[in-house]
Amino acid sequence: MRLGVLVSGSGSNLQALIERVHGRSATIAGVCSSNAEAVALERARAAGIESAVFELSAHGGERELRDRAMAGWLAERQVELVVCAGFMGVLTAPFLAGFPDRVLNLHPSLLPAFPGAHAIDDACAAGVAETGVTVHLVDEVLDGGPIVAQERLPVNYHETPEGLRARIHAVEHRLLPAVVDDVARGALDLDAIARKART
Ligand code: GRF
Repeated sequence: MRLGVLVSGSGSNLQALIERVHGRSATIAGVCSSNAEAVALERARAAGIESAVFELSAHGGERELRDRAMAGWLAERQVELVVCAGFMGVLTAPFLAGFPDRVLNLHPSLLPAFPGAHAIDDACAAGVAETGVTVHLVDEVLDGGPIVAQERLPVNYHETPEGLRARIHAVEHRLLPAVVDDVARGALDLDAIARKART
């Protein structure tokens, strides 16, 4: 299965996919970054994976224009599954139409709790006893879409956001490659998950 990975930052989850999935059950055919400075781009280069930058400013701030260009670039590389791994931003309908029920996102909370860009800080501030990691199908709602997999994580009462962040990342680096591997091997049926969510 050919993957496209969308990134914006450090790309530690891209690295986990490179180490655990790439060249095995799937091939990362391309990496798209919304940020030219993303360390994730260096990780792609080091692994010999093609990458491209799609900054919003290069498309007049128009998300749909940027998304159409990005979808076209991925389609040229015959990408079948798109994985948002630390991609900041909401994908628009023209992008999602290119990959129906084939766009996954990784989020550092037990959705629907704590959507948005500050999920780990928000969970710490709320004093919850547990949080976790979610992999879900992407729709046009921020951190919405059918849940594909979740893993729980207890929050220690004395925990700092930095400590929790490190433990959440460790779970992410295991859960995301496992889910992608399952999809690639046909052990996880994204169409069935999407169908169930629509009924
Ligand atoms: C992860 O915590 C992911 O859940 C969130 O952004 C972070 C990306 O980290 N969406 P990295 O760029 O993969 O290191």
